[in-house]
Amino acid sequence: MEPKLLIFSPSALLHILLILTLFTSPFQLGVLAASSGLLFDFYAASCPTAEAMVKNTLRSASTDDPTIPAKLLRLLFHDCMVEGCDGSVLLEGNETERSDPANASLGGFSVVESAKGLLELFCPETVSCADILALAARDAVEFAGGPSIQIPTGRRDGRVSSVSNVRPNIVDTSFTMDEMLELFSSKGLSLEDLVTLSGAHTIGSAHCSSFSDRFQEDSKGNLTPIDASLDRIYANELIKQCPAGVDKSITVNNDPETSLLFDNQYYRNLISHKGLFQSDSVLFSDGRTKAKVEEFSDSQYMFFEKWTESFLKLSSVGVKTGDEGEVRTSCRAING
Ligand code: HEM
Repeated sequence: MEPKLLIFSPSALLHILLILTLFTSPFQLGVLAASSGLLFDFYAASCPTAEAMVKNTLRSASTDDPTIPAKLLRLLFHDCMVEGCDGSVLLEGNETERSDPANASLGGFSVVESAKGLLELFCPETVSCADILALAARDAVEFAGGPSIQIPTGRRDGRVSSVSNVRPNIVDTSFTMDEMLELFSSKGLSLEDLVTLSGAHTIGSAHCSSFSDRFQEDSKGNLTPIDASLDRIYANELIKQCPAGVDKSITVNNDPETSLLFDNQYYRNLISHKGLFQSDSVLFSDGRTKAKVEEFSDSQYMFFEKWTESFLKLSSVGVKTGDEGEVRTSCRAING
C-alpha cells in the first residue's frame, strides 16, 4: 500500500506548532533541572504532600498578612546570592548572614519555620529548609497574581552562614549597571535575568533609608531629588512619605500603583521615571536593558514567560545536592 501524503490545513499546522511548543518547554526545564542536580517532584515518594503543605502554609500566612509574599521572594533572593540557595540566610547567630544590617529588614522567616514544623511532623528529616524557602517564594509569586511555576527540588541545607559573605554577594541600590551585571554573572545570571528578576519590585515595600540617597537635604531640612530624571510628582510623594528625620520603621510601596499585585506595572513605572531605587531606574536609562523594559511593559505575557525561566535559574544558583549538605531539623540552626 502506498503511504498517504498528509496535508495539513494552516490551522492544523498552528495547532501542531502549539503542541510542539508545549512539549519543548518542559523538556528545556528538565535539562536545566538535571544540570543543577535537582529533580522535579523530588519528594514524590518520600513526602508526597510536601509541596501542598508549603503552599497551604504560605496561603494562610498571606491571607492574614498580604505583605508576606514579597518578604519570601526577597528572602529567597538573599539566600541564593550568598552561598547559593541553601537556606544559609535562615540560620540564627551573631555572625550569620542574618546578622548583617543589609538583612535586618528581611522577613518571612516564620512562614518557613511553620512549614518546616508541619513537615517535620509528617515527613521527619526529609524536606530541606532550602527547598521550603524556594517553594514558598515560588508560591508567593503565584499568590500575588504571578505565574504558576513548576520548580525542581532536592536542595540540601548548607552548614555555613557567615556575615562576612553578605556584602560581597548582594546588590546595593547604588550599584552601577556594570557592577550589578558583574555580580549577577558570577552567579550564572544574565543581563536579561537582571531585568526580569528586578520585576520582583512589582510587589513589596522599602524603608525610607533604602532610597534616601536619591534626595539631598538642605540646611533647613528640606529634601530635593538629586536625580532630575525622577518624576517630579513621584519624587514629591516620596518626600512627603519620607521627610528628613522620618521614623526608621516607615516604608513605602516599591510599586506605587499596584503594590500587592505581581504584574508588569513595575516596567511601566520605570518608563514613567517612577523607579524607586537608582538600581531600578538604571534599567530604563541604560541602552543595554531599555528595550527589555519596554518589551515587558508592553506585554505581561512576555514578562511572565521570562520570569519563569529566570526564577528557575535564580532558585538553582549554587544549590547543594546529595552529601554536599544536610536536611536540618530546624531551619534556624544546623543539625547538632
Ligand atoms: C538587582 C538589584 C536589587 C537591589 C539593589 C534590590 C534592593 C532592594 C531594597 C533596598 C529593598 C528594600 C528593603 C527595605 O528597605 O526593606 C528591596 C525590596 C525588595 N526586593 Fe529587591 N533588590 C534587587 C533585586 C531583587 C530581586 C532579584 C528580587 C527577587 C527576585 C528582589 C525582591 C525584592 C522584594 C520582593 C522586595 C520587597 C520586600 C518586602 O516587601 O519586604 N529584589 N530590594
